[in-house]
Amino acid sequence: MSKIVVIGSCSVDFTTYAPRLPKPGETLQGTKFTTSFGGKGANQCVAAAKLGGNTSMICRLGNDQWGKSYLDNLKQAGVDTTYVKLMEDVTTGIAQISVAENGENQIVIVPGANAYLGKEDTESSEELLKNADVLIGQLETPFETTLEAFKLNKGIKILNAAPARTGIEEILPYCTILCVNESEASLLTGFDVNIKNAVDALCKLLRYGCDTVIITLGPEGAVYLSKHTNEPIHVLCDQVTPVDTTGAGDAFVGALATYLVQNKKQPIDHIIGAACKVATLSVTKEGTQTSYPDKFNAFEKEYKSINL
Ligand code: RIB
Ligand code: NA
Repeated sequence: MSKIVVIGSCSVDFTTYAPRLPKPGETLQGTKFTTSFGGKGANQCVAAAKLGGNTSMICRLGNDQWGKSYLDNLKQAGVDTTYVKLMEDVTTGIAQISVAENGENQIVIVPGANAYLGKEDTESSEELLKNADVLIGQLETPFETTLEAFKLNKGIKILNAAPARTGIEEILPYCTILCVNESEASLLTGFDVNIKNAVDALCKLLRYGCDTVIITLGPEGAVYLSKHTNEPIHVLCDQVTPVDTTGAGDAFVGALATYLVQNKKQPIDHIIGAACKVATLSVTKEGTQTSYPDKFNAFEKEYKSINL
């Protein structure tokens, strides 16, 4: 079975739910508090595993209470954890998340062990990195490590350039797919990206050297442009009432990877439509990994897309 490898972050999410997000200096009374397993890398890996993907995670955790339970969580999700390293004297990464009633969120992350993912990890997992059918990276762990992994891999490489940052040009020629949301796309292009100027953004990002650019647009679905066709397409998605949008982008990336290897015969717009469907399902439930769907027939109906 095709192998999906994720190199990236694992964090424990401490989430408070409140009517709205606090303003600077403000104290708000919340309605609920949860601790759950998150981090963009692991979220993407678990999203893929839940959809039936054959997954491996390359990451670092602290050898503390959180790290140990996180490792169990990955195993339970069916992820291969051979290259999950527990570290002494470093805490497991954490994310402090606030979620408002309208589903919006705010996140502060403390990387902890995630900051130590490095050469040692790419060396020990070199064979896996080389031969992965799909390799996924993000920007919550050291950039040089992701770059090295992408240079090694001979398969499909998906970079989710999140959280938003600049200075990542060097990796883009190694990416098969660059996947970003509106704010990440805005930072990389230097202008405020929205559906109206999406074609300009796609063209600008494609020029950095990847094969395909996807910009996810939340309830508006996603747009993409591939150098092979040069036709910008907008894939639409179902409208739902969001409960918690945290990790929806991760659900999209994990699903995209899974469908690219499991549904090779589907056209790319349907694969992106199916990944949007998974992300849409995730926003209707609280949390990240716990809100991701188990395997279902995502290609039962056709997804609507329009040429831009
Ligand atoms: O993308 C969502 C994730 O971002 C959360 O799970 C949190 O850990 C932050 O890293
Ligand atoms: Na969710």
